[in-house]
Amino acid sequence: MRSHHCPNSSRFPLPFLGLALVLLISLAPPTSSCTEQEKSSLLQLLAGFSQDGGLGASWRNDTDFCTWEGITCSPNRTVSDVLLASRGLEGSISQFIGNLTGLLRINLSCNSLSGGLPLELVSSSSILVLDVSFNRLTGALSELPSLTPARPLQVVNISSNLFTGRFPSTTWEVMKSLVALNASNNSFTGQLPTTLCLSAPSFVVLELSFNEFSGNIPPGLGNCSMLKLLGAGYNNLSGTLPDEVFKVTSLEHLSLPNNWLEGALDGIIKLTNLVTLDLGGNKLSGNIPDSIGQLKSLEELHLEQNHISGELPSALSNCTHLTTISLKGNQFHGELTKVNFSNLPNLKKIDLLHNNFIGNIPESLYSCSNLTALRLSGNHLHGQLSEKIGNLKSLSFLSVANLSLTNITRTLQILGRSRSLTNLFIGSNFLHEAIPEDDSIDGFENLHVLSMSDCSLSGTIPGWLSKLTHLRMLFLQSNQLTGPIPEWTSSLNLLFYLDISNNSFIGEISTALMEMPMLKSDRTAPKVFFELPVYLFSPFIQYLKPGAFPKVLNLAINNFTGAIPEEIGQLRALVALNLSSNKLSGEIPQEICNLRNLQVLDLSVNHLTGIIPAALNNLNILSEFDITNNDLEGPIPTGGQLSTFPDSSFDGNPKLCGPVIANPCGSAVADPELTNSREQISTNAIFAIAFGAFFGVGVLYDQMVLTRYFG
Ligand SMILES: *[C@@H]1O[C@H](CO)[C@@H](O)[C@H](O)[C@H]1NC(C)=O
Ligand SMILES: *[C@@H]1O[C@H](CO)[C@@H](O)[C@H](O)[C@H]1NC(C)=O
Ligand SMILES: *[C@@H]1O[C@H](CO)[C@@H](O)[C@H](O)[C@H]1NC(C)=O
Ligand SMILES: *[C@@H]1O[C@H](CO)[C@@H](O)[C@H](O)[C@H]1NC(C)=O
Ligand SMILES: *[C@@H]1O[C@H](CO)[C@@H](O)[C@H](O)[C@H]1NC(C)=O
Ligand SMILES: *[C@@H]1O[C@H](CO)[C@@H](O)[C@H](O)[C@H]1NC(C)=O
Ligand SMILES: *[C@@H]1O[C@H](CO)[C@@H](O)[C@H](O)[C@H]1NC(C)=O
Ligand SMILES: *[C@@H]1O[C@H](CO)[C@@H](O)[C@H](O)[C@H]1NC(C)=O
Ligand SMILES: *[C@@H]1O[C@H](CO)[C@@H](O)[C@H](O)[C@H]1NC(C)=O
Ligand SMILES: *[C@@H]1O[C@H](CO)[C@@H](O)[C@H](O)[C@H]1NC(C)=O
Ligand SMILES: *[C@@H]1O[C@H](CO)[C@@H](O)[C@H](O)[C@H]1NC(C)=O
Ligand SMILES: *[C@@H]1O[C@H](CO)[C@@H](O)[C@H](O)[C@H]1NC(C)=O
Repeated sequence: MRSHHCPNSSRFPLPFLGLALVLLISLAPPTSSCTEQEKSSLLQLLAGFSQDGGLGASWRNDTDFCTWEGITCSPNRTVSDVLLASRGLEGSISQFIGNLTGLLRINLSCNSLSGGLPLELVSSSSILVLDVSFNRLTGALSELPSLTPARPLQVVNISSNLFTGRFPSTTWEVMKSLVALNASNNSFTGQLPTTLCLSAPSFVVLELSFNEFSGNIPPGLGNCSMLKLLGAGYNNLSGTLPDEVFKVTSLEHLSLPNNWLEGALDGIIKLTNLVTLDLGGNKLSGNIPDSIGQLKSLEELHLEQNHISGELPSALSNCTHLTTISLKGNQFHGELTKVNFSNLPNLKKIDLLHNNFIGNIPESLYSCSNLTALRLSGNHLHGQLSEKIGNLKSLSFLSVANLSLTNITRTLQILGRSRSLTNLFIGSNFLHEAIPEDDSIDGFENLHVLSMSDCSLSGTIPGWLSKLTHLRMLFLQSNQLTGPIPEWTSSLNLLFYLDISNNSFIGEISTALMEMPMLKSDRTAPKVFFELPVYLFSPFIQYLKPGAFPKVLNLAINNFTGAIPEEIGQLRALVALNLSSNKLSGEIPQEICNLRNLQVLDLSVNHLTGIIPAALNNLNILSEFDITNNDLEGPIPTGGQLSTFPDSSFDGNPKLCGPVIANPCGSAVADPELTNSREQISTNAIFAIAFGAFFGVGVLYDQMVLTRYFG
């Protein structure tokens, strides 16, 4: 499949092409031996492609090659450009291309070419621009001998291929005119090139992200007096940022996320032309220096997931072009009110998740009228949301969980007016308040995701939720809600993730749940992305869009009674079903075996009786299964998926028998030794962890964990 980075290929409309060919055949000029060689080199290139994307129709021996698709010639009729990006080409790049002595630019990006990169391309004495990005080229890059005369290459893009091995060094030494080198998204190893700028003084762009480079950032980069972009994120670089790098004041984009860099940030303030600074996911420490205000052009500040501490300096409000501030997962403290956010009118995203900020939500935030995403959860902030949040007309993502907010009625009234809001996380607030009923709440017409978990809210599921027709995910777990599941649940056409576990719901499992359209069909909701990634259960599970979540129904830890409805078999799209810890009775319905997409099934701690349906063996992607602590009987079906689960999946059902649980069928009584309680607790804990990935909160997981890790 072609990457989304690659533009669609454009072809001539066919009638035009046909006409062009007719004209060309009649106008074909006389050939010379020199041009004969150009033509045959091109035909050799064509012959190397196992799939030529229709090129063969144009590249015909009996026509003038200067008119072939993708070819441009110089006035002296040598090929100057071979531009064949996004042509659907497969096969290899022929080394005969090196015989095109006047070739200046070659662009083969966004194809499916394989094999190696011919040395003839790199060592060419004519080529200025070489782009073979987004292919499947393999192997190592060869070193050119250091005595090779200077080569004219200016732009090299070999990114997004499958190259391996150490990055060459002498090869770049002969590229005295190099301006841009993009080798990102390969598997290169070894040190970053150290002497690039000594040989190529006008070097501007170095992009080496997504490789396996290791070692320190070389001080030699200090010689790059023209460098504007340095990208080496997602490698294994370590050590501190050398002082020499801070001398490269031409730098506009410094991007080194997800390495092992350590040390302080202080030198950064010398890079006064910085537009983007991305040092997220390292081991940096110290403070943000007061003088950060000198970075007058700074637009994006990414320092997330480091060990940075201290207060946010008020001088940050001098960086008036800031659009993004991402500081999540550090140890910042102090009051946010020090920063005057009204000086930062361009702000679009603020993410402060998991720090130690205290005090009130700063009023000045409400003047950032272009804000689309605001996440303050996981701090010690308190106070109330102001009515002024209505000024944020573009606000789409709001996460203010666990901020000791009170008065849920007022909060929902304020937020309901926002037409832009799509993702709202307000869990772990409003402790022991009552969930507001119908009439007082209105709006929220564009909400996709709503989390009001862990609030110990009382009441029933309120009717105003029925108007949220765009809702995809609803988290109401760990409250004290009671009453039945309303009939209108099945009218929420896009709802595919419902977690109402750990409440006090009663009665039979509503048939409305069995009619949820998204769970009955494979349909997916229209694709949308979160403005900020959402973390569920653990910081290492990151979701960029709601659609990446599995289809889940979690009714665990309630007081549901009666039998599991046989209509459960309609929910064919369900990936995880948790009915654990209720008072369900009767048999496991045969229909549950129709849920071919199930990966997680938890029916534990109920009063289920009868046998285990043999057809459960057909659920061949089921990876978590728990029916412990029921009253099931008879043989455990063998020879299928159920045999892949440990005996701990079946514990606490003394009347079950079978080889899995070492209680052979036909023996007189079940062996009471089998339910060793200590073993059971530890395996249940493991289950809770595995389930946690799906359900957001495992049976054993408490509010602490949830609020630390969730949105
Ligand atoms: C192209 O045509 C010439 C004669 O016009 C012939 O000599 C040559 O072999 C042909 N090349 C290929 C690759 O068919
Ligand atoms: C063309 O390229 C091939 C492969 O690199 C080489 O063997 C051959 O000598 C070259 N032919 C000419 C005429 O330069
Ligand atoms: C043709 O012209 C280009 C530049 O226009 C030059 O680089 C090349 O050497 C010339 N080739 C011949 C064979 O004259
Ligand atoms: C190569 O072609 C692609 C698609 O047209 C384009 O995006 C890319 O910028 C080109 N590469 C260079 C170095 O110009
Ligand atoms: C490859 O990188 C070069 C230099 O950075 C750039 O001009 C070109 O657009 C890139 N090609 C693609 C397909 O992104
Ligand atoms: C480098 O190439 C990647 C594609 O592999 C592209 O996304 C990126 O924009 C390029 N970077 C530069 C600076 O050209
Ligand atoms: C890396 O390359 C693969 C394969 O070409 C592509 O699908 C992916 O989008 C690239 N990743 C980045 C970050 O450019
Ligand atoms: C290159 O950098 C090294 C180390 O920073 C320095 O000693 C040397 O003077 C620099 N050379 C030039 C030409 O700037
Ligand atoms: C921020 O800007 C104000 C006004 O331009 C100036 O007085 C102050 O010194 C600056 N602070 C910093 C730390 O740059
Ligand atoms: C807000 O965004 C709009 C549209 O993107 C833009 O026209 C406007 O200038 C921005 N306002 C500020 C204060 O940046
Ligand atoms: C909550 O806010 C509403 C206004 O929306 C107000 O009428 C009510 O008295 C408040 N409740 C409490 C307990 O302060
Ligand atoms: C279920 O009901 C019993 C009493 O009937 C009560 O003690 C228990 O707390 C309830 N459980 C839940 C999870 O609501």
